[in-house]
Parts: sequence; structure tokens; C-alpha cells
Amino acid sequence: METFILGSGKIIAIANQKGGVGKTTSAVNLSAALARKRKKVLLVDSDPQGNASSGLGVHQRDHESQLYHCYTQEIPLADVLVAPNKKVKLTVVPSGIDLAAAEMELFPVEKREYVLKKMLDTVKKDFDYIIIDCPPSLGLLTINSLTGADSVLIPMQCEYFAMEGLAQLIKTIRSVKKSLNKDLYIEGLLLTMFDKRNRLTFQVEEEIKKHFGDQVFKTVIPRNVRLSECPSHGQSVIEYDVKSTGAQAYIKLANEFVRRQK
Ligand SMILES: Nc1ncnc2c1ncn2[C@@H]1O[C@H](COP(=O)(O)OP(=O)(O)O)[C@@H](O)[C@H]1O
Ligand SMILES: [Mg+2]
Repeated sequence: METFILGSGKIIAIANQKGGVGKTTSAVNLSAALARKRKKVLLVDSDPQGNASSGLGVHQRDHESQLYHCYTQEIPLADVLVAPNKKVKLTVVPSGIDLAAAEMELFPVEKREYVLKKMLDTVKKDFDYIIIDCPPSLGLLTINSLTGADSVLIPMQCEYFAMEGLAQLIKTIRSVKKSLNKDLYIEGLLLTMFDKRNRLTFQVEEEIKKHFGDQVFKTVIPRNVRLSECPSHGQSVIEYDVKSTGAQAYIKLANEFVRRQK
């Protein structure tokens, strides 16, 4: 008799087609903050810019196979996992510029929206959380992420045009839900780069809360220079400067996130 082990890992896509809103910063540092809580975390870098990988000191040049090869050459995902030798134990699926070609190469593939989901199903049981850092677009890489995910976390920069483009993202999530992944839901909206000195920031916060209410995380990520410095040291902010307001905010977010799972 065959036994099937059902995966326990929850999969969260971090998505917003706007660039520079804090997707990668949140993917890396929420992953690290969860790992600090002794959760087993897999961070999947699904952006050809490869910033989640390089931010943890994982470089495309050092790894022959990465997510691109899993997408296009049927390399098992388990074969490309990297565990950077760090205080905070995380596992990474690295990416780099090669991944940019995957969208084109996937185009003629049958069930091309489900390729990542199939890959993740094979490793799900080994992790508590799998976090996917999406690229700043709503192309096939993001669609694969949303199709493979249980939920989507949307970082939003506290600036005047924050809401712009959000309607398009929500529409995409709805259509993925309708035709590809009926159980997908919004994990929450995360306000990033919050600047207490700027009154506009508070107005934007109020506006977003008016529309999304409880779906907005109570934890807000402040603008903090440590968060922008740590990637160049190949470290999450948790390792780079755990006392910084940025690190403390992501630790708080991880606590809120885990609490909300119950
Ligand atoms: N809370 C923050 N405080 C200061 N700088 C930040 C913060 N969040 C992100 N950044 C910086 O802003 C830039 C864009 O963030 P990033 O996470 O790469 O956005 P995205 O992945 O959505 O494009 C990066 O240079 C990053 O270091
Ligand atoms: Mg990014």
C-alpha cells in the first residue's frame, strides 16, 4: 500500500506588480524572523533580479542550477536548494537573470500556470513556511506563484500613489482564484517604509485601512536605513542589526503573522 504524506508547509506569495514597494525586503526579513522563531522556512526567489538570493549572499554564479532550470529543464526543486551558512537557518531557492527567459520558454508548455505548484508540492512537507518573492509584474512567474500559494501578502509603500495599481492586483488575484487556485486568499496588506515625520504617510495608512480594514497587518514597517544596508552584507536585518527598528518590526510582523494562523 502506498502512503501519502500530506505537506504541512504553508505557501505565501509576496506580490505587488509595483517595483520598490518592499517585496524583497519583506520576503527576506519575514523569512529570517520566522526562522528565528525556529520555523523551517524556504525562501523562493521568483524574481530574475535575484535580490532575495544575493541579499542572503547566494549568487547565481556559485550555483549551476537554480529556479530557472527547475522551470525549464525539469530539474527537481530539491536539487537546487541552498542553505547559507548563517546564524539564522533558512533555505533558499536561488534565482538570477536567467529566470527572465523562463516566461518565454514556459509559454508553449501545457498547464504552464501550474509548474511552480508541482515543484513546491514535492518539498512542502519539509517546511513550515514557504515564502515566494515575486517579480514586479503580473506575468507568468507571478501567476505561477499565485497558483502555487495558499495566500498572498501585499506590501504597500506608504506614499501618495500606493493605491494605484492595487485594483489591478486584486483583479488578478480574483481571476487566479476563479480559474487556477480557488482557495487562494489575501494573507494581509503590509504597510512598508512608514515615515513618522511625514503627515502624508498617516493619510495613506488611513485610506488603506478604510478600504481593507482587518486585512491590514497591525505591524507597520518603518523606514530604516539598516533595512537598505543589510543586503550588501549578504545578511538579513535580523543578523545584521537585530536591535534596529527595522529588525524589530519584522520580528513583530512574524509574531503577528504566526498568531493570525490560528
Ligand atoms: N523599510 C525600509 N526602510 C528603508 N529602505 C527600505 C525599506 N524597505 C525597502 N527598502 C529599500 O527600498 C528599495 C526597494 O525595496 P525592495 O524590497 O527591493 O522592493 P521590491 O522588491 O518591491 O522591488 C530597496 O533598496 C530596499 O533596500
Ligand atoms: Mg524585489
